[in-house]
Amino acid sequence: MESPFKADILKGKVALLTGGGSGIGFEITAQFGRHGAAVAIMGRRRQVLDAAVSALQLQGIRAIGVQGDVRKKEDAARALEMTVEQFGRLDILVNGAAGNFLASPEDLSPNGFQTVLDIDSIGTYTMCHEALKYLKKGGLGRDPSTGGLIINISATLHYTASWYQIHVSAAKAAVDSITRSLALEWGTDYDMRVNGIAPGPIEGTPGLRKLAPEEMKGKSRETVPLFKIGERWDIAMAALYLASDAGKYVNGTTMVVDGGLWLSKPRH
Ligand code: HXC
Repeated sequence: MESPFKADILKGKVALLTGGGSGIGFEITAQFGRHGAAVAIMGRRRQVLDAAVSALQLQGIRAIGVQGDVRKKEDAARALEMTVEQFGRLDILVNGAAGNFLASPEDLSPNGFQTVLDIDSIGTYTMCHEALKYLKKGGLGRDPSTGGLIINISATLHYTASWYQIHVSAAKAAVDSITRSLALEWGTDYDMRVNGIAPGPIEGTPGLRKLAPEEMKGKSRETVPLFKIGERWDIAMAALYLASDAGKYVNGTTMVVDGGLWLSKPRH
């Protein structure tokens, strides 16, 4: 689907996206690129990164891939350094890297629980912490008049409770809390904006392949607003809105993009 935004809304901007080589992350990366940004993607799998970078470059997008794990502070620092070395600055950090699997609390070891918190929550915080020196007002390589932007990819699982997702729900609750705290502190001190996006079920993603049967079971077309699976495009458009000047007064919010699914209840 064609973008309703002008093609130059991110002209001159530089974005680093963790988990930007596949799924929702890749669509955000591609749309940022098509709207003028240079993009760096960080991920664990070299083959996925290489394929993503080639696909972006074929579209005329300036792109690099950096292999790394958000659980490692040195990988986070290196991805940021390489981005700024290549493109001269950093304007936008998107934290999209996430771990997920279905497990009941009975079967989920504390280490399994921690693994997902390490990727989603600590990984997000690590990337934000390491990126501050580039994103803050007056930061390395930046136009001194403004600060940059962070977008944290979250979920809606923890607004209520979701079967077999105790670890991801806890991890994403922490992500939303990090979003609000950084929006307050870095918005005040460094003129930065920190926001989140909480996607619903999105077609063609690892999240949906793993979770859809449980998520959608028992939901009926009659009771779920806009009953349909979302597209990666829907999430990328929300990210473009937040990243562009259209979102310049939005700070500390996590935008739910799920067609109203999380609040649906049976009709009585
Ligand atoms: C129970 C599991 C498990 C499973 C791993 N563990 N998979 N426990 N059921 N299916 C446990 C292991 O037993 C181990 O604990 C601990 O977790 C660490 O496992 P490792 O395999 O050593 O970890 P690692 O190789 O680091 O892999 C972590 C991973 C990751 C979380 C499994 O590889 C992963 O998730 N990859 C998929 C990425 C993905 O799907 N991304 C999209 C996310 S979608 P013990 O105690 O045995 O040592 C998303 C959407 C959410 O986030 C919301 C949707 C609506």
